[in-house]
Amino acid sequence: MTQRPMRLRRSQLSVPGVSEKMIAKAVLSEADHVFLDLEDAVAPSAKEGARKTIVEALNGLDWGRKTRCVRINDVTTPWCFEDVIEVVTGAGRNLDTIMLTKATRAADVQFVDLLLSQLEAKLKLGRPIGIEVLIEEAAGLQNVEEIAAASPRLESLIFGMGDYSASQQMNLRGWGGEGYPGDVFHFARFRIAMAARAAGLDPVDGPFANFRNEDAYRREARMAFMLGFVGKWAIHPAQIAPALEIFSPSQDEVDRARELAAAYDKALAEGLGSVNHNGTMVDAASIRIVMNTVRKAELIGM
Ligand code: COA
Ligand code: MG
Repeated sequence: MTQRPMRLRRSQLSVPGVSEKMIAKAVLSEADHVFLDLEDAVAPSAKEGARKTIVEALNGLDWGRKTRCVRINDVTTPWCFEDVIEVVTGAGRNLDTIMLTKATRAADVQFVDLLLSQLEAKLKLGRPIGIEVLIEEAAGLQNVEEIAAASPRLESLIFGMGDYSASQQMNLRGWGGEGYPGDVFHFARFRIAMAARAAGLDPVDGPFANFRNEDAYRREARMAFMLGFVGKWAIHPAQIAPALEIFSPSQDEVDRARELAAAYDKALAEGLGSVNHNGTMVDAASIRIVMNTVRKAELIGM
């Protein structure tokens, strides 16, 4: 694989793989990325049927520019290998990424990587399927660097705070209030963002369960955004618009970034390394921040 595909992940919508109705709704949503779930949103007795529903949905619906992802069960379960084999055999040409849950070490990712390589060769798929990984176990966070470097297929690391809290036996009574001085998830988010960026991956923030509390969703999304996350999950359609807004630059920010970039180019052409642009200093360091906005705007099509 030469270069990782650039994808928008501002809003990643989670859809239970058993629900044809919700899948149909997800296709019509504004989310950049939809993942059809075979893991926690699907009961053990329904997993095999859900694989078939997912294959039909990937092949039969028009997904437009959305990233099409399937979330699979983790490597310690009896379902993981067949999740990959059935979904890729049935719909590999209409699938962009596989999301691996509860990764705890590089070998977990490499297991999925090898399975995908064998299937791609057997099925003669022309295009590699990417991998996204959930960091949601204490061991996963501890080994996040080796996980981030485990495979050239990797595209993103996702912080799954629900399972993570359980894994660390965190007590979230008082979360968001006065129970803890600061954000209980700060360290985990910072750690994941750092490991992801160092490996050239996108950090993505996981779910927020109380879908009627938009203010709280926005607060969590903004904290992740400030740390460099590219997007947040939506578990309900109501969470899509807030994420699209928070993880997109405003048109004013984009215009200003392009103006600064042009001013800096002009300065360089004149042999200057830093320049005063309307009272703001622009130099090689600050232009990196500006160019992050310019590149994001290009990806969005602004
Ligand atoms: N994707 C697509 N459509 C969804 C959706 C989702 N994740 N969640 C809800 N909808 C649809 C509903 O089907 C409903 O459609 P309708 O108006 O045509 O009837 C509409 O959006 C409004 O839903 P609402 O009635 O407010 O909620 P609900 O009680 O139907 O569903 C949940 C609530 C939590 C059960 C549902 O949002 C859900 O299953 N979310 C995903 C859970 C998941 O994937 N968990 C694993 C990852 S953390
Ligand atoms: Mg989980």
